[in-house]
Amino acid sequence: MKTRLVEPQEIRQQIWKELARAGQDRHHEWRTPVLATSSFDGAVNARTVVLREADAGTQTLKVFTDARSSKVNDLAHQPCGVFVFWSKRLSWQLRVRTTITTHTQGPEVQAIWDKVKQSAAAGDYLSPTAPGSVLTPAEHTPFLHHHFTLLRAQVLDIDWLELGREGHRRAKIGENAWEWLTP
Ligand SMILES: Cc1cc2nc3c(=O)[nH]c(=O)nc-3n(C[C@H](O)[C@H](O)[C@H](O)COP(=O)(O)O)c2cc1C
Repeated sequence: MKTRLVEPQEIRQQIWKELARAGQDRHHEWRTPVLATSSFDGAVNARTVVLREADAGTQTLKVFTDARSSKVNDLAHQPCGVFVFWSKRLSWQLRVRTTITTHTQGPEVQAIWDKVKQSAAAGDYLSPTAPGSVLTPAEHTPFLHHHFTLLRAQVLDIDWLELGREGHRRAKIGENAWEWLTP
């Protein structure tokens, strides 16, 4: 970023503009955040995911996954996730605290699946075995139905950190709140 934004409102707007872009642009540095979840026994899990959509109006992020993945199991027990984004271009880190709902059916899921099933990624959701399950010599299970799942993450707040030559800046950003923090 060339100009150093000063006003909280400008920074907030720029964050959501970049997030929205990342949902559209596969080359954006925020396209592939790390999503951390917690399992029923308190263990922490983290993995890279693709950000599919970010909407400032509803304060939501969307991710696609397989219904049988560990993260979906984690979310069934503890419907919370933290997304971590880093952009070298912006010198910005975001730690986005969210509550996450999982969706396997309904008009929105159907509309997305109708597109995904035409793409090379369709196989990701049609595997007869669950992600992470041990591979055994190929069983010819027919690919009858998909396990496509939409994760809708409702943003609670964003911990924004800017690394800068003139000093670092940090803030806790709620939908209608702003608190400057010691970086
Ligand atoms: C660049 C990249 C993008 C990925 N995107 C996704 C994704 O959008 N959804 C997903 O479920 N897994 C994605 N994965 C795979 C996950 O990181 C992870 O390996 C898999 O989902 C199983 O995680 P889990 O067992 O914790 O559920 C991606 C991996 C990489 C390296």
